[in-house]
Amino acid sequence: MLDQTGARRADVLVKGDVVSEVALPGELGRPAGALVLDAEGCVVAPGLVDLHCHLREPGGEEAETIETGSRAAALGGYTAVVAMPNTEPAASSAAVVRHVLQLSRGALCEVHPAGTITDGRLGRSLANLAEMAAEGVRIFTDDGNAVADPALMRRAMEYSRSLGAVIADHCEDPALTGDGCMNEGAVSSLLGLPGRPGVAEEVMVLRDLALARATGARLHLLHVSTAGAVAAVRAAKAVGVAVTAEATPHHLALEEDCVAGYDTSYKVNPPLRSHDDRSALLEALAQGVVDAIATDHAPHPPEAKQVSFCEAAPGMLGLETAFGVASTCLGLPIDRVLALMSWQPAAIAGLTGTQGGPVVPGAAANLCVLDPARRWTVVPSALASRSRNTPFAGRQLVGRARHTVLAGEPVVVAEEAQR
Ligand code: DOR
Repeated sequence: MLDQTGARRADVLVKGDVVSEVALPGELGRPAGALVLDAEGCVVAPGLVDLHCHLREPGGEEAETIETGSRAAALGGYTAVVAMPNTEPAASSAAVVRHVLQLSRGALCEVHPAGTITDGRLGRSLANLAEMAAEGVRIFTDDGNAVADPALMRRAMEYSRSLGAVIADHCEDPALTGDGCMNEGAVSSLLGLPGRPGVAEEVMVLRDLALARATGARLHLLHVSTAGAVAAVRAAKAVGVAVTAEATPHHLALEEDCVAGYDTSYKVNPPLRSHDDRSALLEALAQGVVDAIATDHAPHPPEAKQVSFCEAAPGMLGLETAFGVASTCLGLPIDRVLALMSWQPAAIAGLTGTQGGPVVPGAAANLCVLDPARRWTVVPSALASRSRNTPFAGRQLVGRARHTVLAGEPVVVAEEAQR
């Protein structure tokens, strides 16, 4: 068993929706009729928490539904996700937030809707943050777009403070990205594709950090991908700015040269970056400058991907492969991986009441059982998502969730369980 208090050999007894006992192996009596989940060779941990996924409901059901997306999440070891608000309509009002919450009843993980910062995600005027906060929204973002207007962003940050909320930004300055569709650099020149420069991210990160410092707001930077961005976050943290940052499995594992075959499953915003950017990201992750690994799970139907690279929709699946990619590609010990994928994101999203452990008697039974040695090959057609746009198709990964327990219910039971 592994949580933020350390690792120990233990059996965990769950009763109802809570952990009732944690004891040395063999010391627990087995209540009659209890379901036993085999965790031999595995790590029992607090469920994973994803700060950033697109479940596409309402409006994008051809790509994903809350049901299929939450199943992918549970299979990936997640017990809670934050659902991005770039739906159709956008989650810009209490009514849409309530609708998402209603659709999430019976989902295979907790679904926490994020709300937009600007009305309709159009970047023109502030959304009614207070009415969404009253529905429990704690993270506001126009993800997919940055909030380009600095005056609007400043006002959003000021409001967010009184709501105890977090402002999360997709940091790419649209004036600099233009119609670019991959990282700007030697590879984009060679391929003849318009580029999105890394500096588009860096300038937006620097602006947001300055505004967060001036307003005292809690700022979360979505999917940071450049050396410049992580250097700016490092410096801001050193002077006490209330900032956290996430990185995605794809930015940590893949580089811009993947695009060389014009395969649209490698198209994503921000784009896959250079080797130097990825090295800086990995270093920042190891140093704690980056606080969380978040999937940016972005399902798209085949018709949105089977077009030219420039026309293709940006985004990649992530929920089912995130733990495998993290444990295969990052060279981090599993306790660090879990900090980045469970308790640190739970704290950022304000979910520590029920998510992210520690696994102690009385705690909510949101757990995963991870097999760090399990070898598996990513087969797109075998994924639970309604979409197939994974950049890891055919890859062999080492590490996979075996079981997932949501509020005491075993929602994923991979092997024979005995009664
Ligand atoms: O590649 C991306 N796809 N980046 C985003 O920020 C949005 C996402 C989507 O919604 O498809």
